[in-house]
Order: sequence, then C-alpha cells, then structure tokens
Amino acid sequence: MSLQDFLNLAELEDAARAQLAATTLSYYDGGANDELTVRANKASYARLSLLPRVMVDISKIDLGTTLLGTPLKLPIGIAPSAMHGLAHPDAECATARAAATMGSLMTLSTLSNSTIEAVSEAAPGRWWFQLYLYRDREVSRALVQRAEATGAGALVLTVDAAYLGRRERLKRLPMVVPDILALPNIGGAHSNPLEYFVSLLDTTLSWTDLAWLRGLTDLPIILKGILTPEDAVLAAEHGCHVWVSNHGGRQLDTAVTAIEMLPEISAAVKGRCELYLDGGVTRGTDVLKALALGADAVFLGRAALWGLAVAGEAGVAYTLKLLEDELRLAMALCGKTSLPELGPELVRGF
Ligand code: LAC
Repeated sequence: MSLQDFLNLAELEDAARAQLAATTLSYYDGGANDELTVRANKASYARLSLLPRVMVDISKIDLGTTLLGTPLKLPIGIAPSAMHGLAHPDAECATARAAATMGSLMTLSTLSNSTIEAVSEAAPGRWWFQLYLYRDREVSRALVQRAEATGAGALVLTVDAAYLGRRERLKRLPMVVPDILALPNIGGAHSNPLEYFVSLLDTTLSWTDLAWLRGLTDLPIILKGILTPEDAVLAAEHGCHVWVSNHGGRQLDTAVTAIEMLPEISAAVKGRCELYLDGGVTRGTDVLKALALGADAVFLGRAALWGLAVAGEAGVAYTLKLLEDELRLAMALCGKTSLPELGPELVRGF
C-alpha cells in the first residue's frame, strides 16, 4: 500500500496500530484511568458545528502564519511526545525533517531518542524544545543552554506532569525499550526510563520558579498544560505563551478538553500572548474550529507518531499534508481565504 492510498489520519492510525509492538502501543496510546478524557478529546470536536458562508471568491486560500517570529506554511505543528524511536529507527530526526519540509515546526521532547544537536541539524530554525523542571536545577539549566545554543525557537515548559497520571494500561503491559534506544537528553539508557524520569521531576514547581527560568534564557517560554482562563491569565502575566492541553488524556482523567476551554481562555488572555492547542485533532475541520475559537496553531501528538510508524519521515509529512489539504478545503467551504478571517462566529456548539 502506498502512502497516497491512505485517505485520512484514521486510516494511517489503523495501519500504525497494526504494525507497532503491543508494548509500544500501550505507552503511546494509553491514557489515565478509564481514558474518558482521551475519548472526550476527539468527541469534543464532533460536538461543534461549522457555519459555512457562501458566494465568496475562494479561488486562493492562504494558510500561512507566523508563530513567535517563525513563518509557517500551515498553522499545524508537532507536539512533544516521547521516544519516537519506538515508532521508527530515524526517531525524532525523521519527524523534525518532515515538519521542516512541510513548512511546519516540531517540538522536541526532552524524552527523545535523537539528540538535541541532531534535531537542530535536521530541521534548522524549525524546532522548539520541551522541558520539565528537575529537582536538580543544573540538569534543567544544561538542557536549556543546549537548546538555546543549537537554535531552538522557544522553550515549551510542561506544567501538568509533575506526577505522571495513572496509566493502567501501561501497568498491565509495560513498554519495552530496546537497549539501543537511549534517552540522550537525560543521560543514556534506562531499563525503565519513565520511572527514572519521574524520579527527576520537581513537584514543588510553581509560578515563582518562572523567574529562574526567565533568568537563564531569552527564548520565548510557552507553558504547556493550561486548561483554565485563570492559569492562562497568570501565564500571560508572567510573560509566557499558553499551550492549552490535557496532555492527550494521559494525566487527569475526566479533565476538560482543550477545545471546550479555548473560547474562555482566548477571551481571558485577549491577544496578550500566543495560544496553541493539542488533543484529538485528526481532521482539517478540527483545525479550523480551533483556529476560529482563538488558537494561533494546533499541534499533533499521537497523530504524528502514527504517520512516523507507517512511513518514517514521509509518513509524518503526509500526515501534515492531509491535514493541510483538509483545512484548505474546509476554509474554502466556509468562505474564508486566510487565517485572520477566522472567528468564533464560524462555530456553533450544542
Ligand atoms: C507522557 C509524559 C512523559 O505523557 O509526557 O508519557
């Protein structure tokens, strides 16, 4: 089957599921507790309807945008997710190259199998770096300095995972990480990388710690894992950008979804910072709804991993291309020709 035979992201996902090891799927796919939030992420988009406008010249559609100074050909990026090496031997370098080729950008997870340096060479100027704050601040400092020195465009601080959610699927079927898959950014190979990683995390992380991070770097800081207007306002007041996310339903089960909170969050920060979203995006119409409700861009987590598993770099590029084409068509059918024209009047909830 050639890539072009896959009509949509769901078909790529099915193909990826059929070929990935069960132990890998247990990690990539599993959410917290009963996985209600995992399912809600997708279902939230289905509950929103679009209001198409007609009789507009839609012969040219421009999907271009700029995120924190980086021009993008489409308002869709790659979210950080751990261990791309479990999906494909070229790991994060393949994902990063695909994003760069498509004029998108990738957020590199701290828990990557490719090094920061390799990804910066694979996708110069088209990657951000995701980090956690560790109890040992020197470890965090070293990572931030490496990311800045190699050209990361921004730092994405994950703020919703000081403890990992209760991943029952993963307890039943632990992931198996081959010896060759080191986690070079946190110091090599570990038989249970997640357990090791969790032992490093600083559970005291609070708003006052941002000053420490700000003092280390001039890079823009994005807080990922915000779900309320109150926290979004605090983020903006601390000079940060906001990434609305429930961590793919992997942290607090029954948490609200990003798309359902977006209108309130967008109204609360009123253009004071950039606003991103992830969770459950699998169609161009999902992207359109998120942009209309205030997101500057959406990011793909699991969806990128499915493309990577199916065909490496080409599979990720194809995933982005499918969504780009779907978004262009959805905009045309809504009578919109560029992203600044999109607003909440396009979407009706029920
Ligand atoms: C996860 C963490 C590591 O969701 O971000 O598995």
